[in-house]
Amino acid sequence: MLTHCHNIEDLRIAARKRAHRMVFDYIDGAADDEAAMRNNGHQFSGYDLVHRVLTGVDQVDTSTTLLGRKIDIPFIISPSAGNRLFHTQGERAVARAASEFGTIYSLSTLSTVSIEEIGRLTSGPKWFQLYVWKDRGLVKEMLARARMSGFEALILTVDMPITGNRERDLHNRFTIPPKITPAQIWHALRAPRWTADYLMGPAIRYANLSADTPAISLAAFVAGQLHAGFNWRDAEWLLGEWNGPSVIKGVVDTDDAAKAVSTGFNAIAISNHGGRQLDASPAPIDMLPPIADKVGDAAELIVDGGIRRSTDILKSLALGARAVSFARPYLYGLAAGGQQGVTRALDLFTTSLRRDMVLLGVQSISELNRDFVRRRA
Ligand SMILES: Cc1cc2nc3c(=O)[nH]c(=O)nc-3n(C[C@H](O)[C@H](O)[C@H](O)COP(=O)(O)O)c2cc1C
Repeated sequence: MLTHCHNIEDLRIAARKRAHRMVFDYIDGAADDEAAMRNNGHQFSGYDLVHRVLTGVDQVDTSTTLLGRKIDIPFIISPSAGNRLFHTQGERAVARAASEFGTIYSLSTLSTVSIEEIGRLTSGPKWFQLYVWKDRGLVKEMLARARMSGFEALILTVDMPITGNRERDLHNRFTIPPKITPAQIWHALRAPRWTADYLMGPAIRYANLSADTPAISLAAFVAGQLHAGFNWRDAEWLLGEWNGPSVIKGVVDTDDAAKAVSTGFNAIAISNHGGRQLDASPAPIDMLPPIADKVGDAAELIVDGGIRRSTDILKSLALGARAVSFARPYLYGLAAGGQQGVTRALDLFTTSLRRDMVLLGVQSISELNRDFVRRRA
């Protein structure tokens, strides 16, 4: 089935067929009217790539560096919560696939496989994503565990002071772990392979929290622990505690980007959480040029949100991103077919990136600049 998936939308349809409805909707959905999510993807069509001819390019080099680390492809894995619920292979599948493709894997605070296990699983580069808890002791403990397990950089996600209003999850009464309701049972029967895996696999839990943390719902857990009062001074404290390469994720404003640089972050992930938080937030691709102008070389820029084609990657790189990242594309792959599905997603991007670089007339990523992009009137 996966071999019939020729683009990310095909993987999305395959994921919808295999996964329980509440699981598919959790991945696929966003906040309020889901306008920001739609806009994230749509805004890429406002930019054209102006190809060059007779450049003699027949071989391409897709490698680049990010925070001093060489990666074979200019895209990395965005962190995402709860992966074992989507497919029993969960975060293990994604980390292995990332390592095979020679790129960076980012592990979410709210992962369902532990920091330590992911640290041991592959020799590939790994970053750890942190949500800010009220309890500084817990924050320090997580940083220490990530460092001990070989995670090279810290991603601080800052666009989730509280959880966004995700109405598909409310309609589905979605929780991690799932609650058994008549509607859940009905949808479980319609997704027999997912249900069999779920029933036979180990219980789903947040693997980075101690085993005696009560298995309460994602919404309740996050609501109780997220620290909306966290500010730039606290971020400075956190960077002091981490004392290593750092990324701030969830910035869309140029002044915030400048503050991120002066606070000491090495990279900025321009992101609106895939439209899952503030539904009126701008598309990251539109905020990339002004942020690149504001910060110059003072921080490396990563863009995520709505990237579904390799041309989206090329547009982002040409507009000033050092690399891009994405979540739903590999999560559709995971939900559709475990590690093979994740590999399929990464392969689709890699193969088409190579083709598009030849078509664009660029041999290496470093040749890309704004001259290759035209803003549509
Ligand atoms: C199911 C799901 C779970 C996510 N969990 C996290 C998370 O735990 N931490 C985080 O920083 N971002 C999380 N994100 C946001 C992604 O890292 C990323 O910013 C966003 O999905 C990018 O948009 P895209 O899905 O269109 O590529 C999640 C996204 C999805 C779809």
